[in-house]
Amino acid sequence: MTSQRGDRPQRAAIVAVRVPAKMNIVLSVGPLRRDGFHDLATVFHAVSLYDEVVATAADTITVSVEGLDAELVPLDGSNLAVRAARLLAERAGIRVGVHLAVRKDIPVAGGMAGGSADAAAALVACDALWGAGLTSADLQTLAAELGSDVPFALLGGTAIGSGRGEHLRPIPVTGRLHWVVAIAAGGLSTPGVYRALDRQRRAHRMPAPAVPEAAVAALENGDVVALGKALRNDLQPAAVALEPGLSTTLDAGKRMGALGGLVSGSGPTCVFLAADGDHAATMAEDMSRTGGCRHVRVVTGPVPGARVVA
Ligand code: C5P
Repeated sequence: MTSQRGDRPQRAAIVAVRVPAKMNIVLSVGPLRRDGFHDLATVFHAVSLYDEVVATAADTITVSVEGLDAELVPLDGSNLAVRAARLLAERAGIRVGVHLAVRKDIPVAGGMAGGSADAAAALVACDALWGAGLTSADLQTLAAELGSDVPFALLGGTAIGSGRGEHLRPIPVTGRLHWVVAIAAGGLSTPGVYRALDRQRRAHRMPAPAVPEAAVAALENGDVVALGKALRNDLQPAAVALEPGLSTTLDAGKRMGALGGLVSGSGPTCVFLAADGDHAATMAEDMSRTGGCRHVRVVTGPVPGARVVA
């Protein structure tokens, strides 16, 4: 993966990257694997809720974080953006550092892959800052080493994910989807939610995970009513068991006429499909008053993955 210095594009003095949150329109979870992960069949969907990572040249690799839940994000070597920068530097033979300034709008531990988004943004930012000249395929390989959701944060759009989530196949979507995002007061640990699911399933044999054809067809046809009925998340019962207050939010979505609603990934954020932008705005207002959540946002999807911004 080490690129020749002569081939490398010009280094930049400062690079800003914007990266979207993801939700899972379908999340089908197979049995626990020997490596501690679960095989998935999922439909990832990138939505217009963004973190931003600004990279500037420095002697060492450091990070600072501001914005939503910034105080919950570690600033040491366990920070996913720092791990991404270190990994890229090691593989591309880079010996300089970077300061990564992260501005968060994606909830931390919210089930929208905020940490993975920051890792993807750091890969794109450091590649440009250092003029490393890695290909998209190189960046995808590094992303998969960093976490199951990092490859999708690079890619964006809407894609079927398999394996532990790192194998991606983009799928077409007709039209723009409008969602209401209900952000809960606390966070949930992803491994904790998977463990709770394993406990709920006990000795039951699980079939191989699958994405129903109806969900893919609804996306392709832009049929939001059919899509609302096809939303499904196998992690939802485990997330609700750990955070029973989520039932209040999910019930509120039904009452407000959402076409469908579900916990996003491992939660606790919940997402609701609206018929259009006006419907989303009305639902968001109601949800802020009675949904039992901390913040409510209206977003659209699909949107592109981690990209350098001017
Ligand atoms: O890959 P990532 O670091 O995001 O995964 C966090 C944790 O979530 C894993 O350690 C594992 O416990 C769980 N996980 C899983 N199966 C997946 C993805 C994540 O069990 N496909």
